[in-house]
Order: sequence, then structure tokens, then C-alpha cells
Amino acid sequence: MLLEVCDLDAGYGQTQILHGVSIRVDEREIVTIIGPNGSGKSTLLKAITGVVRPTAGRVVFGSDSIAGLSPDRIVRKGISYVPQTENVFPSLTIQENLEMGAFLRRDLGRERLPRIYEMFPDLVSKRGDRASRLSGGQRQMLALARALMLDPTLLLLDEPSAGLAPMMVDGVFDKIAEINQTGVAILIVEQKARRSLQQSHRGYVLATGQTRLEDTGERLLANPEVRRLYLGG
Ligand SMILES: Nc1ncnc2c1ncn2[C@@H]1O[C@H](COP(=O)(O)OP(=O)(O)O)[C@@H](O)[C@H]1O
Ligand SMILES: [Mg+2]
Repeated sequence: MLLEVCDLDAGYGQTQILHGVSIRVDEREIVTIIGPNGSGKSTLLKAITGVVRPTAGRVVFGSDSIAGLSPDRIVRKGISYVPQTENVFPSLTIQENLEMGAFLRRDLGRERLPRIYEMFPDLVSKRGDRASRLSGGQRQMLALARALMLDPTLLLLDEPSAGLAPMMVDGVFDKIAEINQTGVAILIVEQKARRSLQQSHRGYVLATGQTRLEDTGERLLANPEVRRLYLGG
């Protein structure tokens, strides 16, 4: 097992949002978390990455307990996180964004840049442009590329396809599959539940801060209750 979250509680101030959430991600897996708006999906990713401090429960990554560690220490252990919004610096160039991405792993240095440009060839000709000039889809690609500068073993993605045109949605999901092929495990929170579950090994349903269902992507897609509640029939 790569990541194990066990009985996790977390929230904001006095407001508890997650109530005993348990999930796991195995090495090289793609796992999708679906659930209604406000159910705590983003909060779960923030609690795993240390952006929000868990108040109870365990988060184990590899053989390390990481609950309560600072986000930069968690990143150095090999978890990269792409938040839903503000995941690139608009006023910096593509290249500067990528270099900033590697900031916490100076041991890796600039050596990863060529490899990342190889994986994201569309960014090469734009590397001197400011990120603010990119389309929504290109910006999301840059956010993925930035996260990969850290050479993670686990990538956390918060609604990577949100707000993108249908053609770009496919591009982003294809890129996610490609990243996974290189051996990176991926935990995705997605509104495009159907598309995401189709290419996931497993998935979870999160509702009102609790994990309600766990199954293979295929079986969740076939589950009548999941279809009715979360997949639009
Ligand atoms: N920074 C915050 N401060 C206080 N409450 C928040 C904050 N962020 C989210 N919440 C609340 O936490 C709950 C879960 O939000 P979130 O994790 O973003 O859900 P989801 O990602 O599933 O839509 C919501 O009720 C939301 O209003
Ligand atoms: Mg969210």
C-alpha cells in the first residue's frame, strides 16, 4: 500500500468536515473520489497534504506517518498536489512556473526540465510566455507539469477537468493516464465522475464527510444507486 488514510477527522476552526474518512491508494493505482458538492473532497486532499491539519486519524505514506507534518515536508516525501484553482503563477512564464515547481526539491534541480518538456511538448514553444496567456486547458497541463517537477510517487488532483472545454477534458484525462503509465499513483477528485471512473482502478463515494462506498471503477459505474445519485442516471 502506498497511501493509507484511516479514520481521518479534519475541518476548519470549530467546523468538522471529515468524519472518520478511510481510503487507500496502492502503488501505481488511479483512484477517483466522487461525491456531491460540499461533501469534503477538497478538504480530504488538503488534509492529506497538510494544508489542513487533521484532528484525528492516521495518514501513512509508504512507511511514514505524515498526519500533522507541514505541506513542504509531505511534498519532499513524494506527494504532489494540484489544487483546483490558483495552481499556476499567472504572471510568471511557463519555464519559471516549472522551475518554481521544483523549488522544494532542489536536489532534483533543473535536470527534470527536459523530461517534463518531453512529456508536455505543447509547452516547449510557449516556455517564455506568461502563464496568464495560456488557455484553460493549457494552464491545467502546466499545473500537471509543475507537479511532476517534484518527481512524485503520488499525485493528488482536485477536479483537473473543471471548467474545461470537452476537447480539453479528453486531453487532460489522456495525460493523466500517460502520467500513471510512468509509474505514478494518482488520487483524483472529480465532478466528471463517469469519465474519471472509467480510467480508475478503484473509486470511493464521499458524502457528508464520510466514505460511503468503495469499489472498482467498473463496478461503481454499474451501481444503480451511484448512477442515479452521481452519474446522472
Ligand atoms: N477554508 C474554509 N473555511 C471554512 N469552511 C470551508 C473552507 N473550505 C471549505 N469549507 C467547507 O467545507 C465543506 C466541504 O468543502 P469541500 O471540501 O470544498 O467540499 P467538496 O470539495 O467536496 O465540494 C463545505 O461545507 C465548505 O463550505
Ligand atoms: Mg472541491
